[in-house]
Amino acid sequence: MTTKAYRAALLHSVADPAEVGVEKSYQYFEDGILVVEDGKVARLGHAADLLPQLGGVEVVEYRDALITPGFIDTHIHYPQTGMIASYGEQLLDWLNTYTFPTEKQFADPAHAADVAGIFLKELLRNGTTTALVFGTVHPQSVDAFFDAAGKLDLRMIAGKVMMDRNAPDYLTDTAESSYRDSKALIERWHGKGRLLYAVTPRFAPTSTPEQLDAAARLLKEHPGVYMHTHLSENRKEIEWVKELFPERSGYLDVYDHHGLLGARSVFAHGVHLCDGECQRLAETDSAVAFCPTSNLFLGSGLFDLAKLEKHKVKVGLGTDVGAGTSFSQLQSLNEAYKVMQLQGIKLDPFKSLYLATLGGARALELQDKVGSFTQGNEADFVVLDYKATPLMAYRMQQARSLEERLFALIMLGDDRTVRETFAHGRSVHRRG
Ligand code: GUN
Ligand code: ZN
Repeated sequence: MTTKAYRAALLHSVADPAEVGVEKSYQYFEDGILVVEDGKVARLGHAADLLPQLGGVEVVEYRDALITPGFIDTHIHYPQTGMIASYGEQLLDWLNTYTFPTEKQFADPAHAADVAGIFLKELLRNGTTTALVFGTVHPQSVDAFFDAAGKLDLRMIAGKVMMDRNAPDYLTDTAESSYRDSKALIERWHGKGRLLYAVTPRFAPTSTPEQLDAAARLLKEHPGVYMHTHLSENRKEIEWVKELFPERSGYLDVYDHHGLLGARSVFAHGVHLCDGECQRLAETDSAVAFCPTSNLFLGSGLFDLAKLEKHKVKVGLGTDVGAGTSFSQLQSLNEAYKVMQLQGIKLDPFKSLYLATLGGARALELQDKVGSFTQGNEADFVVLDYKATPLMAYRMQQARSLEERLFALIMLGDDRTVRETFAHGRSVHRRG
């Protein structure tokens, strides 16, 4: 058995502030110890209590640092890494102008392997240890991703895009081939180590009803597999869905009609949902990924977190790179704060922490594995540096409470703030 202990300030969410209030939503140890045994969280507590009991266990100490669970990104596209920050379009033009030509290159397994490596390094540099990831239509894009993530022993979920219409010929499959290819990928990767599979129809406009049925069949035949798609992101997109599916009552109803809602279904965006749709998402225990940098960048709109909270819909935080403009969940929370300010609502820093960690884990039904320091959870955690930049160091000198430090960390933090990242108890990134 390998045991190691980590000493710093420790903070993790234990509940949703919307359910229990802010004060009861987190646990904090100003001078804390996290004990990791064989890649799992063994104990957590005050240094004064735990140190005398540790015997010969090695204790790694970090000064001016805060240890939190690794961040969870509930929506991201690895093939879009190289097209992040592409200028000037809204969703549908952005897809045609930048996205489809970029994704074409993933027919080449060597290219896919290169980008998967760059992408995972970038996630870990930013403290993200779990993500729900889009591949491209090419099965080899998913093989490359899982191969790289498996070598790092990461808890990752991904899937092959299913897309059989309204996209260039070079990027389309068919209902039948998408079923066959997805099935083979599920059999190869789902449950292998910490890897999990997501059935991934791109969004309603690029799938025929037959393909959505094929997606539902995959879910039924493989319990435990995820469903990952986009929903109600952009006004023109929503109008297009109405034209393509005139017999359905709305965008969500397209997915609902085909049996794609459920506890492991994650819908990215949901910027323009009505009350009825929120209610249906909650009834089916489906989750929504809030992607603030992407929604601002593509001009999609302001995510109504309060409405989803009112209906008790599970919500996680997503970067949605490459429409999102940062891999950093701290930067995403910075933008989320501003999205809420524009709606006259304050996003509490402990709610922000929840969204990026335990809330994400719950959205992905992984709360018994990651997202908090509950005993027995997989030891995925980050060491955040309160003094990452001269400005942060100076700002922290003025801060008088944990709440104030956490908020400043979120607003000023980015990849420079992540001193070290651990996955399954192993160091997978150390800042140079
Ligand atoms: N809707 C369909 N495809 C995409 C995509 O790649 N990115 C975003 N943000 N929305 C989409
Ligand atoms: Zn997306």
